[in-house]
Amino acid sequence: MSIRVSLAGATGWAGSALAIAISKSSDISLVSAVSRSHAQRNLGDVLGEPLLNCPIYATAQDALSHPCDVFFEFTKPDVAKSNVLTALQHGAHVVVGTSGLTEADYAEIAAASEKHQKAVLAVGNFALTMVLLQKFAEMAARYIPQWEIMDYASDQKRDAPSGTVRELAYRLSAVRPSELTVPLEQTQGVAETRGARMNSSQVHSIRLPSYTLSAEIIFGMPDQKLTMRHDSGSSAEPYVDGSLLAIRKVNTLVGLHRGLDKILDL
Ligand SMILES: NC(=O)c1ccc[n+]([C@@H]2O[C@H](COP(=O)([O-])OP(=O)(O)OC[C@H]3O[C@@H](n4cnc5c(N)ncnc54)[C@H](OP(=O)(O)O)[C@@H]3O)[C@@H](O)[C@H]2O)c1
Repeated sequence: MSIRVSLAGATGWAGSALAIAISKSSDISLVSAVSRSHAQRNLGDVLGEPLLNCPIYATAQDALSHPCDVFFEFTKPDVAKSNVLTALQHGAHVVVGTSGLTEADYAEIAAASEKHQKAVLAVGNFALTMVLLQKFAEMAARYIPQWEIMDYASDQKRDAPSGTVRELAYRLSAVRPSELTVPLEQTQGVAETRGARMNSSQVHSIRLPSYTLSAEIIFGMPDQKLTMRHDSGSSAEPYVDGSLLAIRKVNTLVGLHRGLDKILDL
């Protein structure tokens, strides 16, 4: 029995790479897709992929009129939460790739997933190398109490920090809060230059032309420091394998889970 997927954002940069990969898989099938500008068309025609035969709808509500096992969210943060809640109401498990959802959004999503006894797997970055960075950073945070996080992306990226960095800060908060030698309120000068306090980490977002997406975490101790950095390339390929794995494994969970390692044996 193949896993039936509804894919929101199927015509986008990340969603179209995933849709094409699904068309080549033997155990996953696309039953519906969401894109406003291509509504009423067939996804196979839009993407030039003859193996895909999947109707496109303007809203998740309409796409979910086709029963599915997994709803995959790859759109924009302004519509992502409501798509996820709608999918849970329709009895689907959900994978969230969209960045920019807030901690308050996730609290609401967690409550809804428990209520419907379905899983929501939210993954700030599906690339294996970033999943490993998260894991190594958690190990380092157990021994090193001070760190700061840098978030680099192109000038076109509207949400800040990236979903990758949000998830990193969230996960480190479960280890411990990062310590500050000088409390922020005692900063002399312009306190904003010290970055934003997010989930007990200092986070600094840079948005400039020529960047794609990078995340860097710097751990500092007296007379020594450790820097870990992840750089994404320009194609969506690194996200595809992780996304397929999430679709295959999300039904093994219940409630909200954050990070691909929740379904990996790391
Ligand atoms: N977790 C990860 O590893 C990962 C990897 C890559 C990207 N992302 C995140 O995934 C999201 C999508 O990125 P992208 O680069 O693929 O964006 P994109 O190229 O702009 O594609 C967005 C897709 O969502 C659809 N969409 C946008 N707003 C919509 C709305 N209000 N209602 C219905 N459909 C809507 C678009 O179609 P229409 O405009 O036709 O509606 C399009 O298909 C972003 O948040 C990005 O940061 C995460």
